[in-house]
Amino acid sequence: MSKTFYIETFGCQMNVHDSEKVIGTLEHQGYARVQDEADAGLILYNTCSIRDKAEQKVFHRLNEYKRLQGEGKKFAVLGCVAQQEGERIFEKAPYVSLVAGSASYRNLPEMLARLEAGETRITGLDDRQTDLTFETDFTSRSNPHRGYITIIEGCDKFCAYCVVPYTRGKERSRTSASVLVEARKMADLGYTDIQLLGQNVNSWRDPSGRMSFAELLTAIGNISGIRRVRFTTSHPRDFTRDIVQAIDATPALCDHIHLPVQSGSTAVLKAMSREYTRDWYLERMSWIHAAQRDISITSDMIVGFPGETDADFEETITLIDAVKYDAIFAFKFSPRPNTPAVHMADSTPESVKDQRLRILNDRQREIQRTHYARHLDQIVEIMVEGYNPTRNQVIGRSSQNKTVNFTTAQLENSTPPIGSYLPIRITQTMPNCLIGEALPPAGDATPFISINRTPHFVVLN
Ligand code: SAH
Ligand code: SF4
Ligand code: F3S
Repeated sequence: MSKTFYIETFGCQMNVHDSEKVIGTLEHQGYARVQDEADAGLILYNTCSIRDKAEQKVFHRLNEYKRLQGEGKKFAVLGCVAQQEGERIFEKAPYVSLVAGSASYRNLPEMLARLEAGETRITGLDDRQTDLTFETDFTSRSNPHRGYITIIEGCDKFCAYCVVPYTRGKERSRTSASVLVEARKMADLGYTDIQLLGQNVNSWRDPSGRMSFAELLTAIGNISGIRRVRFTTSHPRDFTRDIVQAIDATPALCDHIHLPVQSGSTAVLKAMSREYTRDWYLERMSWIHAAQRDISITSDMIVGFPGETDADFEETITLIDAVKYDAIFAFKFSPRPNTPAVHMADSTPESVKDQRLRILNDRQREIQRTHYARHLDQIVEIMVEGYNPTRNQVIGRSSQNKTVNFTTAQLENSTPPIGSYLPIRITQTMPNCLIGEALPPAGDATPFISINRTPHFVVLN
């Protein structure tokens, strides 16, 4: 087998970051990454199982790989569908040699050695009860300015609709010391933006007992060179007031909280086993709304959960009206294998669920149209992310995680490098983004806040 690999990744940021660690591990073992599967000796497929018959799509994709098997290539299936389907993958796609869930990636070097020795049917599926996390010095981060750090893996919450506790295993946190060492190393390498990850990032508990989650945020926000710290996804059950206080007190903590509610109806929340009520959630919203900083709030929503009535759905609408989210990610309930919700009576027709999804998204768009208008004439700091040559605009992201498209007529150098930070005056607001013009950085600073590395240019559309 040639020591080249090709990897494809689906799913959440945790999966994207897992792939960065898998890539780093492979490269450390002497493998070279290629961008075309035709050139690869090993093809890895990092899968997601969250919704929409994901396993069928994976098998369909594997079927396409079949044509490549004659070329001596090897195949590995990783991630949540790998964990969920396990050895069934070997039955349906016998040319696959390795099937491993995320809880087993720390054993990857050993699994790779077996693969190289010619073994087939290698599995990493029995680690879901582990207390260990996947920590490696060989992470290959794809973006040199903004990087992920997973601080907690797995999930113990078992919401009635969700596969994650079955695919990612039990909740396990890294120590504050280990997280801080990684964050400082990243700062030394020139990263300015750190995103802390966890299925429920704020359920993080320091195994060494030294720090609370809010204290960890503050400590990372105070690392010299770190200008932005994000964390996602927060769970309402573990959302404490000191997180809001930490954001108020620490400028580097981004003014954005993703706190998925899923439904505005207490009855539906109960059926979902979310273990909080509408009022409990709204109390947390009131803490955030009372903050000194304008903290942007975003959420995930599920419509059409089994038993959701028109009145329940209406409560979701009144909740988004009350909270005024800056964005929501709304999904139609999708029955998933092994989850209790599959067996719940569900008499709502699909057409009604589709209609609810449309109503919710339309309503949210209107909320954003009026709510984004608060940014008009504000000066917002952005990090440069890319360029839109057709519109002659630069694309940036604000601390609130909003996309800001801007022109640079007032700047000496009209192409600010990716990863640099600039103040932008907002001249127009849209439901999904802000438009503005770059201002020269304040004081006698150099035109752009310097970044400690060669910029790489990415054109985004
Ligand atoms: N741990 C996070 C979310 C993880 S999954 C939390 O609890 O908030 C990301 C999102 O996918 C969820 O917030 C939910 O809105 C959606 N989701 C998960 N399972 C789903 C399902 N079976 N059907 C539809 N949406 C689902
Ligand atoms: Fe899934 Fe619930 Fe865990 Fe989130 S908290 S990952 S929705 S089981
Ligand atoms: Fe998907 Fe697994 Fe993430 S199911 S959303 S890749 S935790």
